[in-house]
Amino acid sequence: MHRAATHSKTEVLPTHTRALFNAAVKRAVELLKAGEVVALPTETVYGLAANAFDAEAVSRIFEIKGRPAHNPIIVHVASAEMANRCVTEWPPMAEKLAKAFWPGALTVVLPRAEEIPDIVTAGGETVGIRWPSHPFIQEVIRACDFPLAAPSANLSNQISPTNAEHVAKQLGGKIPLIVDGGQSQVGIESTVVDLTVKPPRLLRPGMIHEQALMAVTGKLSVGTGDGEVLKSPGQLQKHYAPQAKLVVRKWRNEADLNAQVAEIKPRVPRPHIIAHTQIPSSAGFASVSVIPHDAEAFARALYGELHRCDELGAQLIVVEAPPDTSEWRAIADRLKRASAG
Ligand code: TXA
Ligand code: MG
Repeated sequence: MHRAATHSKTEVLPTHTRALFNAAVKRAVELLKAGEVVALPTETVYGLAANAFDAEAVSRIFEIKGRPAHNPIIVHVASAEMANRCVTEWPPMAEKLAKAFWPGALTVVLPRAEEIPDIVTAGGETVGIRWPSHPFIQEVIRACDFPLAAPSANLSNQISPTNAEHVAKQLGGKIPLIVDGGQSQVGIESTVVDLTVKPPRLLRPGMIHEQALMAVTGKLSVGTGDGEVLKSPGQLQKHYAPQAKLVVRKWRNEADLNAQVAEIKPRVPRPHIIAHTQIPSSAGFASVSVIPHDAEAFARALYGELHRCDELGAQLIVVEAPPDTSEWRAIADRLKRASAG
């Protein structure tokens, strides 16, 4: 079937009434069944979805995002049976984690089933599976009766979208449909855990943090060890980056902040500040935004603030350092990646 490479018009469908929700499900399912790629809400970040069993449809995700072929895509399911269809093994640990955290912001990596095309797994023998909790994508997956391959709905190396507008800014005109399911409730990407090794290995921190995981898994290894094969390209240093230079600092008060800003090279006269405990006055800064001192609320707001700073043409964003506790680990990880390079 011939498909246009670009869509001069991207339909944006709301979902805030039952009738609108149903109409949007119907449209998304039609397009997905026809091998198209559409942007759908999830509770973590918005996803750019295609039929996970259709290699050609998935290849279009890579084209649209400008995504490197070595970066595998997470497969989204809406039942334990569907998860089972995507893998060759469903170990007791997968069952325990699924019982504890699904539907939700956890991706488990397992040996992939033959039905999953190479392009989804970037040629690897494992596949990442997640059962998202957002009701919209759940209903679409059930109606399609196939799993959805979906990376975050942004251009490669840009900040993940947490609302439909963020998606439209990056992908408007490139896809036929964006479904508006409201603000993503979690706000950062899912936790990724590799279950092909013992003990399980945390590949990407997320709001389901290591303490919560370990309550279920017991032991858990974290990150890639020395000399180990890089299993998660999401662990590459530079990722989730805003256009502006981003630095993370701790300051005692406004004078201290000003002194530290003056040290940053090259000098930027009016940086944007994102603070959560030591809030400076706005004098001397392009903007000061305050995000709540609560890990969950902070995660929900963070990407929106970075998108906003990009929109304002920010050159420098100074973010107040988060606390060093497991609840804040994923946030610290995303800030570190955004500030790399
Ligand atoms: O919250 C999320 O996970 C969102 C929403 C849309 O579900 N998706 C997302 O996808 O963040 P993406 O493509 O931006 O991140 C996928 C990352 C890969 O970069 C890699 O780090 C990890 O998930 N991943 C996926 N499949 C893997 C596999 N087979 N082995 C190891 N890591 C894998
Ligand atoms: Mg992504």
